[in-house]
Amino acid sequence: MPNIPPISRKQFLKVAGLSFLSAASACTVSQSPSTAPPTGKPKKRALRIAHLTDFHVMPMGDAPNGMRNAIRHAQAQADPPDIFLNTGDCIMDSLETTKEITEKQWETFNKIIKEECELPIVHCIGNHDVWGWGAPTPDKQSDPLYGKGMALKQLDLPERYYSFDRAGWHFIVLDSNFQAEAGSQYPYIGKLDDAQFAWLEKDIQAVDTEMPICIASHIPILCACEFFDGDNEASGDWVVPAAWMHIDARRFRQLFLQHPNIRLCLSGHSHQHETLQYCGVWYFTNGAVCGNWWRGEYLDFPPAYVLVDLYEDGSADSTFIPYG
Ligand SMILES: [Fe+2]
Ligand SMILES: [Fe+2]
Repeated sequence: MPNIPPISRKQFLKVAGLSFLSAASACTVSQSPSTAPPTGKPKKRALRIAHLTDFHVMPMGDAPNGMRNAIRHAQAQADPPDIFLNTGDCIMDSLETTKEITEKQWETFNKIIKEECELPIVHCIGNHDVWGWGAPTPDKQSDPLYGKGMALKQLDLPERYYSFDRAGWHFIVLDSNFQAEAGSQYPYIGKLDDAQFAWLEKDIQAVDTEMPICIASHIPILCACEFFDGDNEASGDWVVPAAWMHIDARRFRQLFLQHPNIRLCLSGHSHQHETLQYCGVWYFTNGAVCGNWWRGEYLDFPPAYVLVDLYEDGSADSTFIPYG
């Protein structure tokens, strides 16, 4: 997420000591209008996803219990979800941390998933799950787990990006994290490498044109909420860094125009909740389980998850659920 500072051992311990606040918020439970169906099929639910993103868990403080509470809350819904979707930033940060601190954070994440999660879970890599890009050293760079290797190992993912079919929908999980040039403001930007984009085009082309497609990425492909994440109009023009929203969004736009069965894009990263429709595609940016990195609300959004209902007709709903 854009405004989280790099975390050192000292900061790590300091943040761990902060209290979790669950104050009342201006942005509470809300439900989006149903997205418009593209076909004449009846509106029958195909799948209920509990989209939990941006856990930013670490071994200390309120994070472990907060993560457990979110998972339990989702599983206890009267109308429970069928699967979990985690769009990344599983751990507080590994961009700048040592291997030891990184592995301790992952240990906590995997322990809680193992002990609490009773449903299938789909994982996506977040920028804070990428080890070492923010503070590369020769010993890190020579480690096979440097960069995304650590997240792939910890999440037991064979690939950075992949796709599958479920409940009549085609799901594509992307890797948003592209290494920025040295000296850039952030060590990453939101962008697909060329090989991944070529794979994406090929994957979409192979899907039956009647089958709705849902794309998951950590960094939003398109969103409006990032305009408000900082003093972005200070120069007199709106400025949104490439680390906050996919800088290759125009490339996606052109691709999506060719495939009207692409219905929905789900993301995290912004720690805000938003539903946006553009050129026939819905973009749900779905808050953060950690809210403001376990310090209460972020821009009026409390710690929350989102229930995403997918329907057979290609439509979808989003319900924002603070769980505290
Ligand atoms: Fe995040
Ligand atoms: Fe992020």
